[in-house]
Amino acid sequence: MIDLENLMVREARLTKGPLGEDFFLEHILVVKTIALDLAKDLDADVTIVDAAALLHDIAAVRDYRGIANHHIEGAAIVRGLLAGENYPSAMIEAVCECIERHSAPIAMGEGSPEAVCLSNADALAQMLRPVYWLYYAFRVKNFSFTEGSAWYRSRMESHMALLIPRAALVYGKIYEPIYASLYGKK
Ligand SMILES: [Fe+2]
Repeated sequence: MIDLENLMVREARLTKGPLGEDFFLEHILVVKTIALDLAKDLDADVTIVDAAALLHDIAAVRDYRGIANHHIEGAAIVRGLLAGENYPSAMIEAVCECIERHSAPIAMGEGSPEAVCLSNADALAQMLRPVYWLYYAFRVKNFSFTEGSAWYRSRMESHMALLIPRAALVYGKIYEPIYASLYGKK
């Protein structure tokens, strides 16, 4: 077994893409913390959740140009990476399922409990770290003020609507004042 957290710190440091070194602290670590928190409630396997959270965006960190397909490409990279380190194949497949399904929050029953944790945590991390995601809208995606503001707002609203009830209940309270400070009260 390798230290996946260290591996991702190094991957983020080495990135030549626009996500930058800060992506590790601003996104990956936030996703990991939330996903592990949800795992307790969902009775999910914390080893799978931990590995999937750390590795889920490896393809986008390595090559941002493939962002549209990074969930599929990421699973392919991770399959090779973990097989090369002799991880059990059942664990590899479970981690890869999470990575393939992480792009939008999925509900209980739509995937493994671990995939539910990661997909909901990924959305929540975007909702709870607005400074990084506004940087992403304006600098990485190069949107105008109007486009970027509307893009972030509609993305956050659609994430909020898709969250599993437990995540909406616990994190909705934290998110409400963030949303209000950005866009005013609903
Ligand atoms: Fe992510």
